[in-house]
Amino acid sequence: MLLGILFGLVNLAVAETGLNGWLRYARLPSAETLHSELPVHVLVLNSTETSPVYTAGSEVAQGIGSIFGKKCSVGYSSGYIPPDNATVIVGTIKQYASSGGLINGIPELEADGFWLNISGSEVQILGQNERGTLYGAFEYLSLLAQGNTSQIAYASNPDAPIRWINQWDNLQGGGTHGSVERGYGGPSIFFENGTVKSNLTRAAQYARLLASIGINAVVVNNVNANESMLTAPIMDGLKRIADVFRPYGVQLGISLYFASPQALGELDTFDPLDGAVIEWWHNRTDQIYKRIPDFAGYLVKANSEGQPGPLTYNRTLAEGANLFARALQPYGGVVMFRAFVYDSQNLNESYWKDDRANAAVQFFNGLDGQFEDNVVIQVKYGPIDFQVREPTSPLFAHLQQTSSAIELEITQEYLGQQCHLVYLPPLWKTVLDFDMRVDSQPSLVRGIVSGQRFNRTLGGYAGVANVGTNQTWLGSHLAMSNLYAFGRLAWNPRLDPASILQDWIRLTFNSDPTVLDTITSMSMESWPTYENYTGNLGIQTLTDILYAHYGPNPASQDNNPWGQWTRADANSIGMDRTVWNGTGFAGQYPPQVAVMYENISTTPDDLLLWFHHVPYTQHLQSGQTVIQHFYDAHYAGAANAQTFPSRWATLKSKIDDQRYEEVLFRLTYQAGHSIVWRDAINNFYFNLSNVPDQAGRVENHPYRIEAESMDLSGYTPYTVSPWNVASGGVAVVTTSNTTVGTASTTLSSITSGTYDVAVNYFDMAIGRSHWQVYLNDQLIGQWIGDSDLTLGHSPSNYIDGHSATRITFPGIQIQKGDVLKIAGTPDGIEPAPLDYISILPEGVVD
Ligand SMILES: *[C@@H]1O[C@H](CO)[C@@H](O)[C@H](O)[C@H]1NC(C)=O
Ligand SMILES: *[C@@H]1O[C@H](CO)[C@@H](O)[C@H](O)[C@H]1NC(C)=O
Ligand SMILES: *[C@@H]1O[C@H](CO)[C@@H](O)[C@H](O)[C@H]1NC(C)=O
Ligand SMILES: *[C@@H]1O[C@H](CO)[C@@H](O)[C@H](O)[C@H]1NC(C)=O
Ligand SMILES: *[C@@H]1O[C@H](CO)[C@@H](O)[C@H](O)[C@H]1NC(C)=O
Ligand SMILES: *[C@@H]1O[C@H](CO)[C@@H](O)[C@H](O)[C@H]1NC(C)=O
Ligand SMILES: *[C@@H]1O[C@H](CO)[C@@H](O)[C@H](O)[C@H]1NC(C)=O
Ligand SMILES: *[C@@H]1O[C@H](CO)[C@@H](O)[C@H](O)[C@H]1NC(C)=O
Ligand SMILES: *[C@@H]1O[C@H](CO)[C@@H](O)[C@H](O)[C@H]1NC(C)=O
Ligand SMILES: *[C@@H]1O[C@H](CO)[C@@H](O)[C@H](O)[C@H]1NC(C)=O
Ligand SMILES: *[C@@H]1O[C@H](CO)[C@@H](O)[C@H](O)[C@H]1NC(C)=O
Ligand SMILES: *[C@@H]1O[C@H](CO)[C@@H](O)[C@H](O)[C@H]1NC(C)=O
Repeated sequence: MLLGILFGLVNLAVAETGLNGWLRYARLPSAETLHSELPVHVLVLNSTETSPVYTAGSEVAQGIGSIFGKKCSVGYSSGYIPPDNATVIVGTIKQYASSGGLINGIPELEADGFWLNISGSEVQILGQNERGTLYGAFEYLSLLAQGNTSQIAYASNPDAPIRWINQWDNLQGGGTHGSVERGYGGPSIFFENGTVKSNLTRAAQYARLLASIGINAVVVNNVNANESMLTAPIMDGLKRIADVFRPYGVQLGISLYFASPQALGELDTFDPLDGAVIEWWHNRTDQIYKRIPDFAGYLVKANSEGQPGPLTYNRTLAEGANLFARALQPYGGVVMFRAFVYDSQNLNESYWKDDRANAAVQFFNGLDGQFEDNVVIQVKYGPIDFQVREPTSPLFAHLQQTSSAIELEITQEYLGQQCHLVYLPPLWKTVLDFDMRVDSQPSLVRGIVSGQRFNRTLGGYAGVANVGTNQTWLGSHLAMSNLYAFGRLAWNPRLDPASILQDWIRLTFNSDPTVLDTITSMSMESWPTYENYTGNLGIQTLTDILYAHYGPNPASQDNNPWGQWTRADANSIGMDRTVWNGTGFAGQYPPQVAVMYENISTTPDDLLLWFHHVPYTQHLQSGQTVIQHFYDAHYAGAANAQTFPSRWATLKSKIDDQRYEEVLFRLTYQAGHSIVWRDAINNFYFNLSNVPDQAGRVENHPYRIEAESMDLSGYTPYTVSPWNVASGGVAVVTTSNTTVGTASTTLSSITSGTYDVAVNYFDMAIGRSHWQVYLNDQLIGQWIGDSDLTLGHSPSNYIDGHSATRITFPGIQIQKGDVLKIAGTPDGIEPAPLDYISILPEGVVD
């Protein structure tokens, strides 16, 4: 007992960077007491070091040693199995049987499945194939690391064969490193300086994390692909990545640029029906397989957002996909063909019936059944683009003779970019568990992508992860729960998001009840909280879709050809997607679903504005009006985000200091940015609709002092665009880049007491300005604006909703008549921008 407690304390003192994710194998407090129940030996039925079976054996020995402080030896055999009763046997079913092991009583396994039989210190981990064995080993270790040593015996099979990660990594762009599009955890772990990195240690560590959650392939480069992926030096580099993936059973795939033969200057066409083009792709595919015999296949983004594709030559999308499929067939490779096909240039908001959401079903119309068997259509969960809430893509119901996979976005592009806590599985489940009612029969999306509903042999899950070189992988420790849960759900989509989360918490932090309860409740509330202070009722996220996809900018949705319109005007809001009067999108669903969305009375509140154009005063099923719901939700969401830092603070000394501090930093930032969001959206719709907030909160901030109304010296007012991201639409900036600006005010109408002083300012990515806050010339706080460097969200070079932020100095003693002064020192061309201060009585947030 005493030893266990000591170990616990020792563990807390060790700084943890997050690099090991959920595979920390941390010493259990009860380690010693469990020694007698543990194996002493691992018998591995394959001694080839590149075999996932070999990896499985090493992981089990390492895990038992690390979790319990008990030495576990490893031996290799391909023949006789000694009848030792404290041994973990690790191998494929086939290896086990041919070594004389008895397999009657073990259920038939599917590809990648495993049998796990824990009987005290005797354990069988037997895979249907080599990587199945590794998955079984990680499952065993997950149980042990959570302190679970109970007797169990079961088979586990994946729900779907395709469980892939997509990385949107570029060969170049992140300084000497490759940049990662929509990546918030640093530059690429695969590429640097236009080629594959020489040091692939992180790539191997990534494969280990992914194998532990059943991921079997990674597409390593951006869907906006570069033709140089198919040059000899890059293909040689890809071989090296595949080599470090292989011991983890992870296969390598790449994204293709459709026009490669022409872009590389080798042909003057890329017409998919041209004989020379066909031969060219066969040749390149042969060259890849010569280097990588277990190459997984290609991911293709064609005729989307300006990319070339088969439509460039008036060929069908099927003809385009089949070009690659046929080249891959001799090797068993797969084409993941993205359904994200739409024309981003020619949508016109002045046509009531124009609708980007219609595009996928229209483009794939008539093609079902025309794709080769090794083509999988990769469909984003919703018809637009990873918004905070979307209805399920109707395309899933239209692909009945074609395999499909669902594309989920682990990286939080439109969902706070890892700077806001958003646990995504509850959102994903709204789609996976959605019943399409094809032919009026149960047709859950998870049954469609697994192949069960329409009897397909391929299909599954693609998760856009976009990890980077940061030790935390995704930039935020808590965001790793999304990567973990993606793998778990791809293996078994029937799992409950909260129980997956709790496995992750126990493995990533520990099993302390406060740790478990706090992180569970915050994470489970996080998506509804974020939805509340961003875009409600299916209106989309309302972030700036023309720039960083991060902070608020509701006006950016409309009056452009991107087709993410809200059609908000002075009286009404929402997209009319009905058949009877609108874009007809509702009619793309099977009849039972279509009729639900066609009618306002049966459309769920949370998708009302996706399907219907209604007055702001329209009543929801909840009884509230649309506009009042906007106001209430924004206040409720931002208020809940304010509770996150103090809830997290209860974990101090219950987890290691490094991760404690790094998470606290982000949650504190989120609390401030949620207020920016709340006010930007509420002000925008109040200004447009003129409908006042029944609770009198919107544009009524009694504790605020606008910077532009303070006594300014060296600071000058600046009109912010969009106006709604600054309080009163105006900030102040220094008059030159060498002038220190000051803004001061006498607090003459305040009651003496203790206050929290909040300062709203803008942290642009073009410098590191320095701000100081003085009370009667006494410095009470100062900071440097460099969160653009540490937070990792898409940087903004402007004074806008991405750079808007807040810092709070709690518990300041203020006397009536005190003088509050802020001094801003610009840095380069960043002019120390300041918006307002709030002098908040204890317990008040505004
Ligand atoms: C051992 O693993 C290697 C590499 O994966 C594989 O080629 C070989 O067939 C395996 N041996 C047995 C006996 O299964
Ligand atoms: C194996 O089991 C027998 C009987 O159950 C026991 O006496 C023996 O100590 C065990 N051996 C090991 C190595 O645990
Ligand atoms: C599970 O393991 C125990 C202990 O080795 C063994 O007695 C039992 O037969 C195994 N179960 C099956 C179905 O193989
Ligand atoms: C990048 O590549 C170029 C040419 O391939 C080479 O000259 C240069 O030294 C490389 N730079 C770094 C930082 O590796
Ligand atoms: C390779 O990278 C790893 C982890 O990033 C690092 O620990 C190691 O020192 C590097 N190796 C070399 C030879 O630079
Ligand atoms: C395949 O491509 C290689 C390299 O570009 C070239 O040398 C070879 O001639 C090509 N083979 C055929 C059959 O086109
Ligand atoms: C594709 O079809 C359109 C309309 O029929 C025609 O104008 C265009 O020239 C065709 N393009 C090609 C590359 O054949
Ligand atoms: C499912 O497809 C397989 C061929 O892939 C076929 O043999 C089988 O009969 C089909 N089952 C049903 C129920 O349609
Ligand atoms: C029907 O569509 C027209 C635009 O064509 C629109 O102005 C009108 O508001 C819609 N009617 C209803 C009841 O939604
Ligand atoms: C979201 O807003 C709604 C409407 O005000 C409220 O009922 C709900 O409790 C809020 N939830 C969270 C987590 O903020
Ligand atoms: C990595 O992420 C941590 C945690 O958010 C952050 O503090 C640090 O600045 C990042 N480091 C790099 C090199 O990006
Ligand atoms: C300061 O501003 C001037 C004029 O805008 C500009 O030319 C100069 O580069 C700036 N200095 C720095 C250090 O950025």
